[in-house]
Amino acid sequence: MSKPSLKSLQPSHILLSKTAFQQNISFLRNRLNDGVQFSSVIKGNAYGHGISSFISMAEECGIDHFSVFSANEADGVLKFRNNTDTKIMIMGMIRDEELEWAVENGIEFYIFDMARLDTAIEAAKKIRKRARIHLQIETGMNRTGFEEQLWEPVFDVVKKSREHLKLMGLCTHFAGAESVANYYRIQNQNRQFQKALKIAEMVFGDRPFAHASSSAAMLTYPEMHYDMVRIGIAQYGFWPSRETFMHQMKSNGFKRDDDPLKRVMTWKSEVMNTKWVNEGDFIGYGNVYMAGRNMQIATVPIGYTHGFGRNLTNTGYVLIKGERAGVVGLVNMNMITVDITDILNVEKGEEVVLIGRQHGNEITVASFSEMTNHLNYEILTRLPASIPRRISV
Ligand SMILES: Cc1ncc(COP(=O)(O)O)c(C=O)c1O
Repeated sequence: MSKPSLKSLQPSHILLSKTAFQQNISFLRNRLNDGVQFSSVIKGNAYGHGISSFISMAEECGIDHFSVFSANEADGVLKFRNNTDTKIMIMGMIRDEELEWAVENGIEFYIFDMARLDTAIEAAKKIRKRARIHLQIETGMNRTGFEEQLWEPVFDVVKKSREHLKLMGLCTHFAGAESVANYYRIQNQNRQFQKALKIAEMVFGDRPFAHASSSAAMLTYPEMHYDMVRIGIAQYGFWPSRETFMHQMKSNGFKRDDDPLKRVMTWKSEVMNTKWVNEGDFIGYGNVYMAGRNMQIATVPIGYTHGFGRNLTNTGYVLIKGERAGVVGLVNMNMITVDITDILNVEKGEEVVLIGRQHGNEITVASFSEMTNHLNYEILTRLPASIPRRISV
């Protein structure tokens, strides 16, 4: 008998639905102003979806621009992209010594300080190729970006160094467009951004390419689309916040069960064992859970090492045969026990859904997060890279 591949020996796997992704992309593209480009944000291992599978699926669906946080993530896109014309943009961390590599490979990167601008020019001279740069403008996020007093001097340097620098864009990032509580802050940021664009127009003769919006800003503030949007969470089928979801439903007349965003990910495992436990007996470590009746339990080979947090102890649930099976006892490093007393005929090997749909029932990451008080973003990106990912239709 042939040995199964190591991947199939993993206790769980993640399926990516291409159909769901396609629907999300077309919904989002339909909401974009004419001519606005779409950059797919795939930092954090494509928000836990798995960078290698995700990139090829996204390219097949027409994505040609990816945004990442760091040089190592950009290197991942270089390795996994199938189309050499697919563009890569680093929005965060790149070291001086990685700049030549970036220039050589045509990777776009953010610049947010003067020293980096000089180093980029030096790297471009050495490689004899123009560095493809985005100037990040500080508009009120107060993290990274050129402060107002530097805008004109920076633009002047870029203009004088055209031989070595290709200005790909001016950009900024809004501080929480997913909440109406930040409305005035976002409006102020946008005003600052427009001010920077005006100065740039004065210096360069025409307004440079500009981008500012992530999912929430794109969905909530169409006037802030500019020339490109950087979309992360929404392309994976999640709303940036409940507020953004409510805003969309209300302003577009969607019905509750007619969510235009479809979850791309399903995380599945299987039943490892079943057994009966007598009323009054404790299940698992210590006295965390006492059986209140004669109970049948199933063990599932998933634990906190796989991203199923200990705080789901006695509160989380999974789907088996389309029914909710609650976690009983402590979430272990590699295992959970779930109550299957009321689910008939569960056997070893039975499919278990941790996130996603099964027979019309669904566990969304959002409900997972509510159980544990974590954001979708955090739950998704904490799913270990070692879980195998596969694309399904
Ligand atoms: C600079 C920048 N742009 C865009 C995004 C995408 O955000 P979202 O996932 O909310 O669409 C992020 C993610 O945090 C980001 O840091």
